Amino acid sequence: MQLSKSVELRSVSNQIDVLVVENDLAMAQISLHGGHMLSFRPKSDNRERLWLSQDAVLDGTKAIRGGIPICWPWFGDHLNKGHLGKDLPAHGYVRTKQWHVVDCVDFDATTLITLKPETAADQGLDGDADLRLTVSIGNALTVELTTKNIGAKAFEFGGALHSYFNIEDITQTQLHGLSGDYLDKTQSLFDKSFANKSSADKSSIHKRSPHQITPEKYTFEKETDNIHLSLKQHFTISSTNFSIDVVSKGHDSIVVWNPWIEKSAAMTDMSAGGYQSMLCVESAITQGITLAPNEQHSLIQTIQ
Ligand code: BG6
Repeated sequence: MQLSKSVELRSVSNQIDVLVVENDLAMAQISLHGGHMLSFRPKSDNRERLWLSQDAVLDGTKAIRGGIPICWPWFGDHLNKGHLGKDLPAHGYVRTKQWHVVDCVDFDATTLITLKPETAADQGLDGDADLRLTVSIGNALTVELTTKNIGAKAFEFGGALHSYFNIEDITQTQLHGLSGDYLDKTQSLFDKSFANKSSADKSSIHKRSPHQITPEKYTFEKETDNIHLSLKQHFTISSTNFSIDVVSKGHDSIVVWNPWIEKSAAMTDMSAGGYQSMLCVESAITQGITLAPNEQHSLIQTIQ
């Protein structure tokens, strides 16, 4: 595949391939391991929007910690883990697959790159899907994950654009734009296989789980793992001197995650202090979407 003038393919330690993009308006990096955005820096202010762990494993052996991992075709753990007789990976399997460029074009105000995984099929997806990630890099970054049913029967899927945002100080950060109930995964009965349960099971888990009300002032002072069953589309993450705007479409939930001190320290690909400068605000499908043959669905996040 021919790359456009603004895009170069570079190898990181001879282990993963990264598309390095520089056009008039922005700089960005996308790893072909995972179809994973690593960096986005608009030239208007030259500030990095995405957080990448300094201990991220960039050798293709595991999912990269930071940037925008693509979680698909489920969010969290898969319901059928036990029944299938083998462990299925958390957040689906495409974040460790090799992706390929299928299109790469420069326009006046943006570079448009489309990627697809080597295969969208694997254990845990009961159907035939075509999966594409289209990335638009300009003044803003838009990532669009499109799932199309190319088989003869319906299937259910979930997932997330698991964006890690780069912030100055988590204790001085506020999230604006969410309201209503949320489910606190650090406390609730929400078991990790919720995403693929039947609607009746989901509603019963919701009823039995302690719901919290989103505070008017959404700040961070401890481990946070909140699932907002929210269709709201516009959020702002504001730090002391800087804010990041996020617009989401095609989601059924917004997941807000920060592992805080102990969990950061326990992760081999995150330093103990890593939690201080990151906040995940994920555009997610936690409840599952059923696609009939030929139907398609797009999960979209725009970051500015
Ligand atoms: C979030 C989940 O989406 O991802 C958390 O809500 C989870 O529970 C986090 O810990 C990170 O997941 P992983 O698989 O990348 O370590």
